[in-house]
Amino acid sequence: MQINRPPANVALIGFMGAGKTSVGRLVAENLGFEFLDTDELIQSRTGRTIADIFAKEGESAFRALEKQMVQELSAREKTVISTGGGLPTNADNLKALKSYALVVCLWASPEKIWERVRNQSHRPLLHDADPQKKIRELLAAREPFYKQADVLINTDLRSVREAAQQIALQFKLATRAKR
Ligand code: S3P
Repeated sequence: MQINRPPANVALIGFMGAGKTSVGRLVAENLGFEFLDTDELIQSRTGRTIADIFAKEGESAFRALEKQMVQELSAREKTVISTGGGLPTNADNLKALKSYALVVCLWASPEKIWERVRNQSHRPLLHDADPQKKIRELLAAREPFYKQADVLINTDLRSVREAAQQIALQFKLATRAKR
């Protein structure tokens, strides 16, 4: 891990189904931080579901809202920010997140991701004739972005609790090292 700043927040990035929300909530509890989710923020701000935004205005409108959230969150402190799976594929978003948070990627294999999302229906990008192929393709395209995180945690063989403990520890080490 190489970071040159004392991070004020933790940002979780990673593919759909990697566990960002469940792990993020536990990290927040562990550190005594607030928990925020960019998808939830967008939904409460617009009063619409993500699926509805994708259907009526298209993915680019949703990506513009994500970018706006990343900018707005820059003033936060002591917050665990869980981000939508596609958010860090915009280089500006990733750069901004890194300026105010320890960026942690929750990694999972395509097989694990499929296991976790197969019974859920709220993600428009997985409404596909062959969702498993879509997962493999999207994950391969996004891997170079995800791997720019400050910390990478493989969740295939880790419980939510173990992943959360690892992240809280890494955050404490990162803040202590920079004091
Ligand atoms: C998306 C992931 C979703 C949500 C939207 C698009 C993506 O968030 O932002 O459906 O592009 O991977 P989760 O990663 O929380 O499922």
